Amino acid sequence: MVTQQKKINAAKLAITKITSGMNIGLGTGSTANELIKLLGDNPVLKDKCRFACTSTQTELLAKNNSIHIEEIDNFNYLDLTIDGADEIDHNGNMIKGGGGALLREKMIASISKNYIIIVDETKYVDKLGKFPLPVEIVKFGPKSTITLLKNIFSEYDLYPEIKIRMNDNGSHFNTDGGNLVVDCYCAELHSLNEIKTKIESVPGVITSGLFINMASSMILGEKEKASEVLFK
Ligand code: A5P
Repeated sequence: MVTQQKKINAAKLAITKITSGMNIGLGTGSTANELIKLLGDNPVLKDKCRFACTSTQTELLAKNNSIHIEEIDNFNYLDLTIDGADEIDHNGNMIKGGGGALLREKMIASISKNYIIIVDETKYVDKLGKFPLPVEIVKFGPKSTITLLKNIFSEYDLYPEIKIRMNDNGSHFNTDGGNLVVDCYCAELHSLNEIKTKIESVPGVITSGLFINMASSMILGEKEKASEVLFK
C-alpha cells in the first residue's frame, strides 16, 4: 500500500511536466501505469497531447483510459517520455526490462528530447546489478547466445547464471516483438558502457536492459511527497 502511494506520488509530480501540445512517450510497468491513470482523469492533456506507447500492455491501459495512441513512426521526435525502471544509479544509468518491454522502451527513449524516470526509493541504488539484467535475444540458438554472453561477462570477472525467462505455465516468455528474454544474475555490475557495447554486438542479441546516459531526470516517489533529481 505504502509502495503504491510512493508510485502515485511520483506520477503526480511527473504529470506536472506535461503541457498542452506535447508529444509524449508512455512507459511500461506499475509506476508508469499510475501516470496513465492520472492522464485518463485529465481531459485537457489527454486531448491536447499526442501519445506513443512502449508496450502493448501500456497501450491497452491507455485505451481503457480513453487516451488515443499513435504509432511511433507518426513522430519525428517526442518532447517527453516518462517511464519506470528496475534499478537506477546516482548517474541515472538504469537496468530496465523487468516487464520485458526493453526494446520498445529504448526505441521510444531514443527519440525523446526529455526522459523522466519515475521510481520509488527501492529502485535507487549505489551500484546496478542486484536486479537481474534482462537481455532480449532472437529465438534462434538461445544456448549459443547465452554462451557468448557468459564469455563477455567473464572478461569482467562476472559469472552470472543466465536464465531464459519463462511464463508461469512453463512456456518461454515472448516480448511484444516475439523474441526471448534472458535474465543475467550478476549481483553487481561494473564497466557498464563496455559491457553494454559488447553484449549488444552479439549477433543473437536485440538489445540489453542497460540504459546508459539516457535519463534526463528521476522523480523519486516518497510516502508523502516526490522529489526530482536532475542528471542532465
Ligand atoms: C518494463 O520492461 C520495465 O523496464 C519497467 O519500466 C520496469 O520494470 C518498472 O516497472 P515497475 O514500475 O512496475 O517497477
